[in-house]
Amino acid sequence: MRIVLLGGPGSGKGTQAKKLTDKYRIPQISTGDIFRAAVKEGTPMGLKAKEYMDKGELVPDEVVVGVVKERLAKPDLDKGFMLDGFPRTLGQAQALDKIMVEISKMIDHAILVDVPDEELMKRLTGRRTCRNSACGKMYHVMFNRPKKEGICDACGSELYQRDDDSEATIRERLNVYAEQTAPLIDYYDKKGLLRRVEGVGPIEGIFSSIVRVLG
Ligand code: AP5
Ligand code: MG
Ligand code: ZN
Repeated sequence: MRIVLLGGPGSGKGTQAKKLTDKYRIPQISTGDIFRAAVKEGTPMGLKAKEYMDKGELVPDEVVVGVVKERLAKPDLDKGFMLDGFPRTLGQAQALDKIMVEISKMIDHAILVDVPDEELMKRLTGRRTCRNSACGKMYHVMFNRPKKEGICDACGSELYQRDDDSEATIRERLNVYAEQTAPLIDYYDKKGLLRRVEGVGPIEGIFSSIVRVLG
């Protein structure tokens, strides 16, 4: 099963991807997570990506496509994969189509987790993320609290607030999404791959809707 997860910043792509990985045993490929890991390691690619991420802008297509191409060449994808946060521009979507032709595979579903902007702002300002990158679980100070404050339920590591989750940067990310990423909804709809899921409500309920869509 090869899935693209579409949705605005904070729509719950990462939250749902973690649950889908547990259920279907297919890896989550989050370009945001890959960039954050590179920033932490201080690699040249990480330093370049950070300039854009801190402003809430998109990392240039050629950098992102290179990263995804490299990841899709790894041998752990025979059961499929989930792309979380990629593609995000028309250029990236076309590049993905080309990569899929090269590896003789097809995308099966593009799932849109649909959430209104006001809700996204609330979610992102209260998000906390597990510092252990092998885990990376997301929490929320009101909507999805860990059992022990500031500590990940799954692995016991410390939780932190992402650098790009300040109100001004979130606002820019929402604009960028509307301008550059939202057109992909139509792109995948025209291919007959779009599955729209209502992204407001309990996390478990949204997960069930996605599982139902996947059949
Ligand atoms: P990225 O890391 O992809 O961020 P994003 O798209 O802005 O999405 P988020 O990770 O913020 O949100 P999410 O949908 O995963 O939500 P989550 O599950 O955490 O990208 C970051 C940056 O990297 C970009 O700005 C860009 O610079 C760069 N980048 C990455 N990919 C790129 C690409 N392809 N091209 C160019 N640049 C790229 O949930 C959010 C919060 O809500 C959590 O606190 C969670 O607990 C809570 N929550 C989840 N579900 C619910 C619910 N149902 N009800 C209430 N709360 C909920
Ligand atoms: Mg995410
Ligand atoms: Zn953890």
